[in-house]
Amino acid sequence: MAFTYSAALRAVAALRVADQLAAGPRPVAEVAAAVGVDAGALARILRLLAGRGIFAEEADGRFGLAPAGQALRSDAAVPARSGVLMFTDAMFWTTSYELASTLRRDGATFADVFGMPLGEYFDRHADKEALFYDGMERVSDAENPLIAASYEFPASGTVADVGGRYGGLLAQVLRANPGLRGVLLDKPEEVAKHRLDTPELAGRWEVVGGDFFTSVPPADVLVLKRILHNLDDGDCVRLLRNCRAALHPGGTVLVVDAIVPADPAPHQSTAMDFMMLAAMTGKERTEAEIAPLLSAAGLRLTRLVPTHSVMSIVEAVPH
Ligand SMILES: C[S@@+](CC[C@H](N)C(=O)[O-])C[C@H]1O[C@@H](n2cnc3c(N)ncnc32)[C@H](O)[C@@H]1O
Repeated sequence: MAFTYSAALRAVAALRVADQLAAGPRPVAEVAAAVGVDAGALARILRLLAGRGIFAEEADGRFGLAPAGQALRSDAAVPARSGVLMFTDAMFWTTSYELASTLRRDGATFADVFGMPLGEYFDRHADKEALFYDGMERVSDAENPLIAASYEFPASGTVADVGGRYGGLLAQVLRANPGLRGVLLDKPEEVAKHRLDTPELAGRWEVVGGDFFTSVPPADVLVLKRILHNLDDGDCVRLLRNCRAALHPGGTVLVVDAIVPADPAPHQSTAMDFMMLAAMTGKERTEAEIAPLLSAAGLRLTRLVPTHSVMSIVEAVPH
């Protein structure tokens, strides 16, 4: 019955319950009145989520936010609310429910359930497209500093984020490594909305609107974050070959993805992979699945660097 946790989390995120507790614990009746729901019912949901470390019940019966629940506040440093609403939206939830048909038909459940592929669904439902990209952006905001801090970048040279969307990771890397210059490559319509234009990073970056299958900007470090997981093996090799060709001598390619560990212990990468299977195309790969793709592109996997997030960094250099 693990789905009850996701559903309860979705309900309190949708109702913005955490914002009601921002100043500290309150009686449930007060919170329920403020968000317009029944107090008895809300108390049952808070009790379930207290068991998951989201809320905490005081000795006097009031409920407050447990440390993990603080992230649901709208004013949290890295708000989790839009990520929760995105991952529990019908586009993932309903397709997950229909997983057996995905397995029988080898994919295409999204189109079966929603009557059109995901891309077309986004074209027709701007609100869902915004929910998805806003949620992913908040998830990236949470993991980007952890990724930037986990890898020892060179002291000088150029780092290019290939498919780096608005430059969130690149900004973190440049902040942490003042001797580096950055290049952001993404589709023209995405880079037009970049977030690199801050006084702190002035003069250290360049933005390129283009197609990474056509060319990749030359650099000492090329980063591909959440890119290979969207691509089939053939397209991964095509892109990695472009990266190999664009690398400065002595350069490095960093594939940053939710790498599935060989160890069978529970790991969030398998949940990410489940969603790719149920609702999208693409997959999360193991190190052993990525190594041959790098090799086919003239690159050699040198090591896997963990981060304090679901993401790992696969480092590769030319053969
Ligand atoms: C899943 S998002 C990852 C964004 C970012 N790296 C992150 O981790 O938050 C994939 C990105 O690749 C970009 N992209 C997809 N195909 C591309 C192409 N052919 N050329 C350039 N960028 C592309 C998309 O616009 C999108 O920003």
